[in-house]
Amino acid sequence: MDAIADGALRPESIPERTPVPPFDLVIFGAGGDLAMRKLFPALAQRSREGVLPDESRILGIVRKQEDVEGLPKQIAKRLADEGLSKSDVQAFLHRVTVVMLDAVKPETYGALKQALGGNGRVRSFYLSTPPDLFIPICENLAAADILTPTSRVILEKPLGRDLASAREINDAVARILPEDRTYRIDHYLGKETVQNLLVLRFANTLFERSWSSRDIDNVQITVAETVGLESRAGYYDKAGHMRDMVQNHLMQLLTLFAIEPPNMLEAGAVRDEKIKVLKALRPIVGPDVQRYTVRGQYVAGQIDGQRVPGYAEELGHLSSTETFVALRCEIDTWRWAGVPIYLRTGKRMAQRYSEIAVTFKPVPHSIFGAGSCDRLDANRLVIRLQPNDGVQLQLMMKVPGSGRLKVVPRQLDLRYSTAFDERTPDAYERLLTDVIRGDQTLFMHRDEVEQAWTWVDPIIAGWHDYSPHPHRYAAGSWGPSQAIGLIEREGRSWADPDLV
Ligand code: BG6
Repeated sequence: MDAIADGALRPESIPERTPVPPFDLVIFGAGGDLAMRKLFPALAQRSREGVLPDESRILGIVRKQEDVEGLPKQIAKRLADEGLSKSDVQAFLHRVTVVMLDAVKPETYGALKQALGGNGRVRSFYLSTPPDLFIPICENLAAADILTPTSRVILEKPLGRDLASAREINDAVARILPEDRTYRIDHYLGKETVQNLLVLRFANTLFERSWSSRDIDNVQITVAETVGLESRAGYYDKAGHMRDMVQNHLMQLLTLFAIEPPNMLEAGAVRDEKIKVLKALRPIVGPDVQRYTVRGQYVAGQIDGQRVPGYAEELGHLSSTETFVALRCEIDTWRWAGVPIYLRTGKRMAQRYSEIAVTFKPVPHSIFGAGSCDRLDANRLVIRLQPNDGVQLQLMMKVPGSGRLKVVPRQLDLRYSTAFDERTPDAYERLLTDVIRGDQTLFMHRDEVEQAWTWVDPIIAGWHDYSPHPHRYAAGSWGPSQAIGLIEREGRSWADPDLV
């Protein structure tokens, strides 16, 4: 199957295609949005491919009696919607056991202990719950004597809502499980193109040699979504877009883009380099928050010709939560000094796409006369995460013909769908089996998470002081005009997604 893709990030100590050992995976929040949309489909896919050992089980935790019967039905419906055959759905459901308990009530954990029984399988606990349940769940698992010496816990992002709460969670979890059995998940790290970023950089001399302020003019990281609140109002309105997307996904993309070469592809080496980048991010504090960041909230507009409601309308009340963030940052290192990095992400934007666009410096002097071209565009490398994942390089080319020399920009286009026959797995497919295999390369160390909060907290605090109300933008647009101003006042513009 996916030999190239799946082996790409395997550290040497874990040979490629290590079989997944027999396991019991316990999912807290099994009826929730993430479990239904991502976790069960990813596990079912792996099960269908024969990657999961026969005796392995998935234990879904529910709180109410009616969900004990309801959960398998819900899973079956979801998997059928994903296009799985009836027999594949049935085979997967055989692995699923539903357990009823109340995460905050220690006396209810007996049911889980009994369901798990005594066996030598790898036990993993996926906490797909709000972060305020992380500590009680870990403590209750320990108190009920459910954790074995190889048990591991998987914590969903965002980890806490600021540095203090993240530390509190990390400290409490550390009292129960060591760091090497704590998996902080950020599904962006499981995306093929994100992993390919390391291959692109460290397996090709061509790019790595130019990967610095010497040749790069600016970097733009965009994660644009067309969806709005979906059914997550309770969580999202409290978190806001900075905590939901920037503190984790965008900062992870930024660090992987900017890291120094690790000496080998191994969890410790990669994480050490990532932390150095996070520590070198120049703080944005006080009045700089107003200068270098923009927060927005969508109002009613149109996407694909359809009217979509504004955020407050979807929510049912007014709110000052941001649904869009743009910011300009810099990494104060020898390699990156002076290169502006622009981040932009939002809900209900004009198009769904995520990419890293690297614009190189222009040639120092044009030998082509004014009649040959309007201007020599700088080379631009676009690493596209979704859709049409792949890599594009914009070059200047001569238009064929024997008349006057004419020079125009054109694209070298390498798409995953045409370059490979393999199916691109969903990020969770890889990450869940990595946990069971014991590979932490694509998970965040506590220091990374805390460092990211250290950088994000003053921006959120600055918004309270300087920009308490987010700027408005129409659903279906590219965000508030201030986000365009943020980059244009420096003589640059956001990369055009339609070029890809
Ligand atoms: C999640 C956020 O982590 O990522 C969501 O909580 C967001 O708000 C989602 O929609 C985006 O993920 P993807 O893989 O669809 O880009």
